[in-house]
Amino acid sequence: MGKLTRRQFLRLAAAQGSGLVAMGALAGCATSEPTAPHSVLDPVGEDEMPLPEPRLEGEISLEQAIASRRSVREFTDESLSMEEISQLLWAAQGITDPRGLRAAPSAGALYPLELYVAVADGAYRYLPQGHALQVVTGEDGRQGLWEAGLRQGALQAAPAVFVVTGIYQRTEGKYGGRTERYVELEAGHAAQNMLLQAVALKLGAVPIGAFYDDQVQDVLGLPSEHRPLYLIPVGHPEA
Ligand SMILES: Cc1cc2nc3c(=O)[nH]c(=O)nc-3n(C[C@H](O)[C@H](O)[C@H](O)COP(=O)(O)O)c2cc1C
Repeated sequence: MGKLTRRQFLRLAAAQGSGLVAMGALAGCATSEPTAPHSVLDPVGEDEMPLPEPRLEGEISLEQAIASRRSVREFTDESLSMEEISQLLWAAQGITDPRGLRAAPSAGALYPLELYVAVADGAYRYLPQGHALQVVTGEDGRQGLWEAGLRQGALQAAPAVFVVTGIYQRTEGKYGGRTERYVELEAGHAAQNMLLQAVALKLGAVPIGAFYDDQVQDVLGLPSEHRPLYLIPVGHPEA
């Protein structure tokens, strides 16, 4: 499979008979209510672009991945493939059960997290139902994320920057004062899954917590209730 470029997305979507949403489509779906469990078999909608099927076997054991995970901040210029992006998103928030349950645990199965990925050709929102991507902008947001992230080198060097956001309202109705704790714990679960998946794919990554929330929201066009919790630059480690 090729690299994750906007042109290839368009071609792939056209080949599969699905269209891509116009830029800014995020605004129309960003304030969605708590997600009802969907079947992993749900078809993707017309405005969604399917990702390659995640694989359930790899070359590195879980123990090896845990033992060798280190924060990596320097990357080669090589892009991530569609398969790699698919696998990383699936590890963090993919649906792994016909009842709609996901790879990372969630208090009350309310799933307050939304994931985004910024690459050279645009930024995309991950849609766990249907394991698909939705275009949020055709601009390269990585420069903006680098600025938002205190100009940390890893954000500039990485071919892909994943953004974990939390929509606290999804959890608040049921868990009240425990909400912040729960949503942020969930971000940790999802991020760790992604970090270990990166190791298993022989990729490097670092979880970044130091950034200006409002600037990250501006770059991705997020509404205020989508609070960024982690930036995770991922790439091929320098040898
Ligand atoms: C909540 C949190 C926030 C972090 N923020 C940053 C960050 O802003 N920039 C960075 O380079 N590393 C960041 N890190 C990564 C830590 O620096 C790193 O995990 C630590 O140095 C231990 O190294 P290791 O990850 O290789 O085990 C963060 C880690 C955590 C858990």
